[in-house]
Amino acid sequence: MAFQRVGILSIGEMGYHWARLLKERGVEVMTSGRGRSEITQKRAENAGVRSAPIARLVSEADLIVSIVVPSAAKKVAAQVAKALLKVGRKDCLYLDANAISPMTAGDIDRILAPAEASFVDGCIIGSAAKLTDATVYVSGPRAEELRGLQDSGFSVEVLGQATGQASAFKVVYAGLTKGLQGLLTELLVGARKFDLLPEIMRRYEESFPGLVGKVGRSIAALPVHAGRRAEEMRELRATFHHHGLKAVIAPATQKVLEQIASLDCGKPSETGGREGDLLETLELFFQRGLLQEKD
Ligand SMILES: NC(=O)c1ccc[n+]([C@@H]2O[C@H](COP(=O)([O-])OP(=O)(O)OC[C@H]3O[C@@H](n4cnc5c(N)ncnc54)[C@H](OP(=O)(O)O)[C@@H]3O)[C@@H](O)[C@H]2O)c1
Repeated sequence: MAFQRVGILSIGEMGYHWARLLKERGVEVMTSGRGRSEITQKRAENAGVRSAPIARLVSEADLIVSIVVPSAAKKVAAQVAKALLKVGRKDCLYLDANAISPMTAGDIDRILAPAEASFVDGCIIGSAAKLTDATVYVSGPRAEELRGLQDSGFSVEVLGQATGQASAFKVVYAGLTKGLQGLLTELLVGARKFDLLPEIMRRYEESFPGLVGKVGRSIAALPVHAGRRAEEMRELRATFHHHGLKAVIAPATQKVLEQIASLDCGKPSETGGREGDLLETLELFFQRGLLQEKD
C-alpha cells in the first residue's frame, strides 16, 4: 500500500532526493529540522519539506525514515522512540536506511521496542542524484510493507525476515565502493607526485574500461562525504570483528577517508546536487598535503 505521509530524518543529500521523489508522486513529506545545521534546514526548504516538531512528525507519518550518518543512527532512533512514547503512538513503521552494522541495527530494534514501533532494517544502493536507478534493500518482519515505496518510484528489494540482513548486505557492498575510492585516491595522488597522472589514468582506462570514470565521480564527492564514508568502513570492520574475522582493507580505507575528511575542504550543497571534477579534487588533495609523510 502506498504511503501518504513520510517523515524523513534528516534532509541531507540523500534525504533531499527522497523528499523530491516522494513529493513528485504526491506523498506528503515532513522533517524535524530542529537543531540541525543551516544547510540541512535550507535543503528541506528547497525540497519543499514541511518541518514540524518531532512529536507531530511521529504522530502523523505512516513511515519514518532515518537517513543520517551511521554515527547518528542510534541517537535518531532514541529521539523517535522517546517521542512515540510521549504521544502514545504504537505500531509505527521505522526504516533505518543508513550504512550501519547488523549490530547497530539490532541496537536500534531494541531502542524502538519499548515504543512498540516496528523496525525495518534497510539500505540504499545507488546514487542520491539518480534515485530512480537506485534500490532500497530491506529486511525484517514488516519489510514487505516497504514495497509501498514502489508506488512512489522507488525500487525495493526484500532480503528476508531478519533484522540485520539489509545492514550486512550494505556494509559488504560499501566495502567495495569505498575501498575502490580509497585505493584509487591513494594511487592517483602518488601518480600526481611522480608527474604521471594523465599517463597512468590512460593506462587504467585501457586495462579497466570505465573504472576511473565511475570511481572518479565518487572521489569528486569525497571533500563533502569522506567523513560519513569513513564511518561506514568502521561499521564494516565492526561487523567482521563481531563474526570473528579481521578486516584489513576496511581499516586502511577508513584511514584514507578520515585523512580526507580532516582536510575540511568540502562545501555541501543546498539542493542535494554534486559538483566537482576528479582532476580538480585530486589537485586539491595534493595541494592540501593528503598522504604526505610527516617529518
Ligand atoms: N548520498 C548518496 O549518494 C548516498 C548513497 C547511498 C546511501 N546513502 C546513505 O544515506 C545516508 C545519508 O547520506 P547523505 O549523503 O545524505 O549524507 P549527508 O549529505 O552528509 O547528510 C547527512 C544528514 O544527516 C544529518 N544528521 C547528522 N547527525 C544527525 C543527528 N544526530 N540527528 C539528525 N540528523 C543528523 C545531517 O544534518 P546536519 O547538516 O545538521 O549535520 C544531514 O542532514 C547515509 O547513511 C548513507 O549511507 C547516501
